[in-house]
Amino acid sequence: MVPPIQQLFDKADSGSKFKMQKFLRIVGYSVLFSTTTLFILLCVRTLSLDKNVGLQLAHWEKTKNISLAIDHELRDELLDNLKEGIRIPTVSFTEDDINTTALLEFNAFLQKAFPTVYSSKLVRHELVANYSHLFWVEGSDPNLIPYLLLAHIDVVPASESDDWDVPPFSAQEVDGFIYGRGTLDDKSSVMGILQALEFLLRKGYTPRRGFYIGLGHDEEVKGNQGAVSIVNWMKQRGKQLLFVLDEGMLITDSLPIDGPAALIGITEKGSATVKLSVSVPPGHSSMPQRETCIGILASAVSRIEANQMPRLFGYGPELRTFEHLAHKFSFPMNILMSNLWLFSPLIGRVLEKQPHTNSFVRTTTAVTMFNAGIKVNVIPSHAEAVVNMRIHSAHSLKEVLDHIESTVADERVKLELIEGFEPLPVSSTDEKSFGFQIIKKTVLEQFPSVTVAPGVCVGNTDSRHFNDLTSEIYRFIPAWLHSGDFLRIHGNNERISKQNYEELVTLV
Ligand SMILES: *[C@@H]1O[C@H](CO)[C@@H](O)[C@H](O)[C@H]1NC(C)=O
Ligand SMILES: *[C@@H]1O[C@H](CO)[C@@H](O)[C@H](O)[C@H]1NC(C)=O
Ligand SMILES: *[C@@H]1O[C@H](CO)[C@@H](O)[C@H](O)[C@H]1NC(C)=O
Ligand SMILES: [Zn+2]
Repeated sequence: MVPPIQQLFDKADSGSKFKMQKFLRIVGYSVLFSTTTLFILLCVRTLSLDKNVGLQLAHWEKTKNISLAIDHELRDELLDNLKEGIRIPTVSFTEDDINTTALLEFNAFLQKAFPTVYSSKLVRHELVANYSHLFWVEGSDPNLIPYLLLAHIDVVPASESDDWDVPPFSAQEVDGFIYGRGTLDDKSSVMGILQALEFLLRKGYTPRRGFYIGLGHDEEVKGNQGAVSIVNWMKQRGKQLLFVLDEGMLITDSLPIDGPAALIGITEKGSATVKLSVSVPPGHSSMPQRETCIGILASAVSRIEANQMPRLFGYGPELRTFEHLAHKFSFPMNILMSNLWLFSPLIGRVLEKQPHTNSFVRTTTAVTMFNAGIKVNVIPSHAEAVVNMRIHSAHSLKEVLDHIESTVADERVKLELIEGFEPLPVSSTDEKSFGFQIIKKTVLEQFPSVTVAPGVCVGNTDSRHFNDLTSEIYRFIPAWLHSGDFLRIHGNNERISKQNYEELVTLV
């Protein structure tokens, strides 16, 4: 599916469109420097940017009507459960190598940890694809379209010999944090959702709007068993979803703005994995041809690296992130951010300088594999390399493949798309957007100092499989990530603070 923003980009004349926009910007700059009027206009626009519009939710949508006061006992219970969940090493190594022993253990653990969820008349539980779970929580009004909370049980590997302060599956407490693989990605979410439901059901909670909880077991290796089976289960039964909330983005205080921000992922970049291969007759190294297959392939790969795809900042939904955050930048950045129609090329040029911000600005190119040769004196007959591109919302898969083909421009290099998908559609964020607004209101209730803004996920989650069931997919967990913490996800010393986990449970 092609995101709406791409309809603006007719590939045939995108070049002239870009030139036209560039021209208009140059005009814009000259006007800016010659008058003060425009400056005042920009300021007015900056001030009038909307900070807190939103749909008026019905009273019952806003509140669970039950206060989840966490006392000493419940606190111990929720922390013990999280720790036990972390200790089960539900690792996905590759698509064909997942720890099924650990997954079976996790199935049994969930039943033990959340007895009310498993015994309540309101909840129906399905085991999907042996290790994934789908819970249905019945609402009192069957006419309301349900939503889905999504999380995943599996984690990426972490070896004991890695540079962790504590063993990665020990769930040890250090200075108010619980350390362990999965504390952020994504067992806090798995455990937090079920823990909140467990506590609420014990207090007699009945939701008005029914909802599903989906727990995939192979997200880290693409979700083709778990999430896809959950989707098929729903499709076979003709289900539709109001919105999906999955992991993806978090709350961070490391943006250059006043105060922390909760970024709600409204789309994900697409992806293209392309294999390049060259085959020639084998030969002895004493009588080489002028070019070997290694040389041919190396030069193709080097052309691909030298010809990055163009910067597209301002042409995709990343624009909305900056618009939402604009009023939190200090002067004069707030003026630049509130007037991206004029300044996006300037800001784009700054963002592309660092790899982590460059990924928001363009379709990225990463050469991930290069293999050839078996012996020091044999000219190999075959060489192959793999390039992984992450596709910006304003590009399509086809444009990316065309770009690679025209950049390589060598018939001896065979190109093969191993796997690819379009950037995900962009979910709505306007005042009528039920999913976005209810997430925003919930976050603001718990964390009043946070600014909520839409964001773009540069990685992918299980939620991408749910495209046919809803057009509204949001990717967010209310976990705090402080500066430097980004490296902990899939890295060493992944951790969550005890307080943050408790907040996460009460917020659900
Ligand atoms: C929620 O609470 C309000 C008062 O606090 C009450 O009037 C209303 O009936 C409650 N609704 C439900 C669904 O329990
Ligand atoms: C798989 O999980 C079990 C525990 O359920 C654990 O004992 C075993 O070491 C794990 N295997 C690997 C390869 O991590
Ligand atoms: C589920 O388990 C059964 C029996 O062990 C096995 O035959 C089947 O392939 C499994 N399915 C998946 C999706 O793993
Ligand atoms: Zn994850």
